[in-house]
Order: sequence, then C-alpha cells, then structure tokens
Amino acid sequence: MRLFQYALALAGLSASALAQSADSYIATEAPIAKAGLLANIGPSGSKASGAKSGIVIASPSTSNPNYLYTWTRDSSLVFKVVVDQLTLGLDTSLRGLADGFLVAQQTIQQVSNPSGTVSTGGLGEPKFNIDETAFTGAWGRPQRDGPALRSTTLITYANWLLDNSNSTFVTNTLWPIIKLDLDYVASNWNQSTFDLWEEVQSSSFFTTAVQHRALRQGAALAARIGQSGSTYNAQAAGLLCFLQSYWNPTGGYVTANTGGGRSGRDANTVLTSIHTFDITAGCDATTFQPCSDKALSNLKVYVDAFRSVYSINSGIASTSPVATGRYPEDSYYSGNPWYLATFAVAEQLYDALLTWQSLGSLNVTSTSLAFFRQFNSTVAVGTYPSSSSTYAALTSAVKSFADGTVSVNAKYTPSNGGLSEQYDKNSGSPLSAVDLTWSYASALTAFMARNGTVPASWGAAGLTVPSTCPSGGSSGSGGSGGTVAVTFNVHATTVWGENIYLTGSVNELQNWSPSTALLMSSANYPTWSLTVNLPASASIQYKYIRIFNGAVTWESDPNNSLTTPSSGSFTVNDSWR
Ligand code: NOJ
Ligand code: NOJ
Repeated sequence: MRLFQYALALAGLSASALAQSADSYIATEAPIAKAGLLANIGPSGSKASGAKSGIVIASPSTSNPNYLYTWTRDSSLVFKVVVDQLTLGLDTSLRGLADGFLVAQQTIQQVSNPSGTVSTGGLGEPKFNIDETAFTGAWGRPQRDGPALRSTTLITYANWLLDNSNSTFVTNTLWPIIKLDLDYVASNWNQSTFDLWEEVQSSSFFTTAVQHRALRQGAALAARIGQSGSTYNAQAAGLLCFLQSYWNPTGGYVTANTGGGRSGRDANTVLTSIHTFDITAGCDATTFQPCSDKALSNLKVYVDAFRSVYSINSGIASTSPVATGRYPEDSYYSGNPWYLATFAVAEQLYDALLTWQSLGSLNVTSTSLAFFRQFNSTVAVGTYPSSSSTYAALTSAVKSFADGTVSVNAKYTPSNGGLSEQYDKNSGSPLSAVDLTWSYASALTAFMARNGTVPASWGAAGLTVPSTCPSGGSSGSGGSGGTVAVTFNVHATTVWGENIYLTGSVNELQNWSPSTALLMSSANYPTWSLTVNLPASASIQYKYIRIFNGAVTWESDPNNSLTTPSSGSFTVNDSWR
C-alpha cells in the first residue's frame, strides 16, 4: 500500500483522478481523432480535396509548413489503424477505404520518381503529390521505412481476407503489390537511408526494425498462399542481428541512428516498440517489445531527455509524465513537443501492461531497474507474480504514468480537439501543421491500447539472433554451400556522425562501390565490426572507408587482402590506415 501511495504522490494526482481525466479526454477526443483522420483521406475526406482515392494527405496545411503531400510512412501508419479497426471488428464500415488504399499504393509504386523506377529504387521515395504524380523537388531520399510499413499494413489486410476466404484476391491482386515492397526491403536493407524525420542519412533503428517485421510477416504470408518467400527469412535474420547493434549498454538506451552526430535519444525508438508490438513475444528484448527491459530503460532515458529542454515541463517532478518530442537536439520550429511522440510513450506503457497481464507476472532486471525505481525507489530485481503486492503497485504506477502522459497531451489540445504536429514548448499552443493525420492516428492507437485492443501477431515470438550474423541483402546470392563467415574488426577513431564502411573485390563486399559499401557496427567503438559471409577458399581484396556528411574517404593504398579458409569462420583485426 505504501508503494502505491508513493506512486500516486509522485504523479501529483490520485490514480483515479488521472484515470478520470484520461477517460474524459478520450471520450471527447477519440471521435474527433477518428473524424480528423478520415477527413484527410481522398477523394471524399472533407479536408482532402484534390487527393486521389485512398490517398492520405499528411495535413491540409499548404504553407508554413506545406504538408499537402502524401508520405508513404504517414499513409501506411494511418492505414494500419484503419485496417486494424476493420480486421479486429471495431469498425466494419472501413473496408471500402482499405481497398482504396491498396489501389492507390499499387498506382504510386509504379510512378517513376527521383529515387528511381519501380525496379530501380523508386519504392524508397518518401513522398508524392496528392494527385499521385512524383514530387521532384529536393528532399531527403530515399527513406527505406516506407515500403516496409506499407507491406505490413497490406499483409495485415491480406491475412484477414484469407481468414474470410478471399484467397484469389489476395494471391492475384494484393500479393504482387506486397512482393514488390518485400523484394525492395530484402535487397536494400543494408543500404543507408534517411531516417523517419528525413534528416539523417545513415542506418536507423526504426527503419531496421520495421523492415525486419515486414520480412517476417512476408515470409509467413508467402507460405500461407503458396508463393515463394524463401529469401525473406534469411534476410530477416540479418536484420535481427543488425538491430541488436543499436543498443547502447552504457547509456541504457537505443541509439536511434548510426549517423547524425546526436546523443541518439529519439522518439524513433519508442515508435519502434509500439509499431513492432507483438503480445505473443512477451517481454522479449531481442525485438524490443514494449515491456522488455531494454525498451523500458530506453523509455525512461528518452522521456528524461525532455525534462529540461521544454519550459512547459519545468517544475514537474522528475518522475512524473512530461511532454516529449522527436529528439532533444531538434531545431525544427525551434524544437517542440509532438503529440505523436507523447502519445507513443503512453502507448508503449499500455502495451506493456497488457503483456504483463497476459504473462501473469512482471520481471524487473538490472537493465530495467532504473525505470521501475521511478515508482518505488527500493524495488529489487526479480519476478513478481500478478498476485503479489509489488506487481499491483508497479502496474498501478505504470498505468498512472501512462494516463498522466495522455493528460499532458490533453492539457495542450485546443478546445476544438484538433491535433496539429507540435505544441509550443513555452506556451503550449498548437504549432506547425494543423490536423496532422499521423497525430490523429497516434491518438487512436494509444486509446485502443488503453482499451485492451491487441493488434495481430506478426511472428515475433521465439525469434533468436543467429550465432553468426549473415551478410546483408544486396549481394543477392546466398544459401548455396561454400561460404565462410568472416568477421572484420578495424580500429578507427571517428567524429560524431562519421561511420566506417567496408567494401572490396567481390559481390558480397559490394564490388568496391563506396555508395553501397557495408556499414560496420560501432558497438565496440573504437573497434568497428562486421561479419560477412564470403566465398570459401577465395582470395579477396578489401578496404575500409569512412563517410562523413556524404563525403567518402578511402583508406590509403595498397588494398588489404585475405584468403578465406575452406570452411568454418575467420577473423581479421585491422587498424585504419
Ligand atoms: C521537413 C521534414 O519533414 C522535417 O522532418 C525536417 O525536420 C525538416 N524538413 C527540416 O529538415
Ligand atoms: C515531418 C516528419 O518528420 C516526417 O516524419 C513526416 O513524414 C512528415 N513531416 C509528414 O508528416
């Protein structure tokens, strides 16, 4: 009981008062968010005039900023909500819209654009005009999360159609669209990408995680309808390996991007947890499930990063909910809280609560200890069954924190319920794009999680990181015998935002191409590492390169060389030359 009261005192309000304020906000905001989302979908959405059927406008704002475009990321996340509401039986009237989305995406996939054609990289184009023509201005491209998110939404729809005996339509119409995106992901996942905020070109945790999810689901769907998807699981294994390298054990958080020169604390990582939630995986940290120790530790580090940077957060107790944004170093509109980032914090915790409930226990590890100690400064590492008082107290405190986070957004929601992109860090007034479709979607998914709505599983349960990490997707070949896992370690000091890549004389090393060279992991900085499957008994030349702000610096001559053994594995330890 004492623990319980302690948590409430920290929140500054009683648990029932917080639940009540979240309840009353949600009662009015949920229908507004749903209507706001639908208003931004063409052709008949009331704010989407000019948008083709099934096209989601990011926002009706046409200046400061002009968001009257359709982004593949925003659209896919928005339609994931539509498809979930349809397939979970919450709103069966949405089927026509879902069909409109798939037709629109089928069209957009084929539109040649500055990233390429459908077969030469065009699927990575981040945004299009709302009449489905290409946007040709300068932009941060490609953004490789788009095809992954789109296929996840379409696969979710496809699985429901199959459950409802519509397999011809899935095989003939939906699968070819999904396959284009999956093939793109499978062959480009280890190429650099702009992050979801369209600013940093490197590798990005959110992108890697949603790509991993898409390929797992794609492999399962292919098997279900008798199509070939055999390469998807192999590439997914490489993605799952790579995903682990973003964890920063010293800081207790996930570093959002491999480049960018920032601390790496970023809503990117919280969005990853909620958009790859799979309750059947329990609190697995390999896939950063919402209740995993790594994701909870990361959540605390992320939230705490915003306590001192927004004045509307000042004076709030160090363990109480606050408004959060994209990342603390953000300077877009001077850097402010975002509704979708703050809702994501609440949603991760609602997802965690659902999972603990289904597991019947809650686990505190040394990694998640700091997260739980916000609520009880003496809680110890251990497993607490749902019958225990510690479980009751901790879950109640987590629920209060989540409700309190919703209440922060509630406090800064204007009286008409409209959700823009941001709110001012000093005054709390709405800022940047009005009626941001993604803001409405983020409200709905947080509310659904609070209500106990569990999205369909994507196959995260029981995944393990292979002991030898396979090489990336772009080499194409793989599976045949005669390869050796070669681990490259190179000692190289770098500046923030600079990364070390590997390239060399064989396909597996990208044939000396600096633009597609393989990014190495800095998990053991200043040693950069990468394991690549190379042909056995082959003599191979290679070099490390450093890339900073797009500028490539090659190691000095001569080339490094090695001869691979006939089987087994092999390690080379180099120093940057
Ligand atoms: C527009 C992008 O959409 C936004 O994410 C970014 O912060 C700004 N450009 C500044 O680069
Ligand atoms: C800027 C955000 O940073 C980006 O993630 C989003 O796709 C666009 N705005 C459109 O909403």
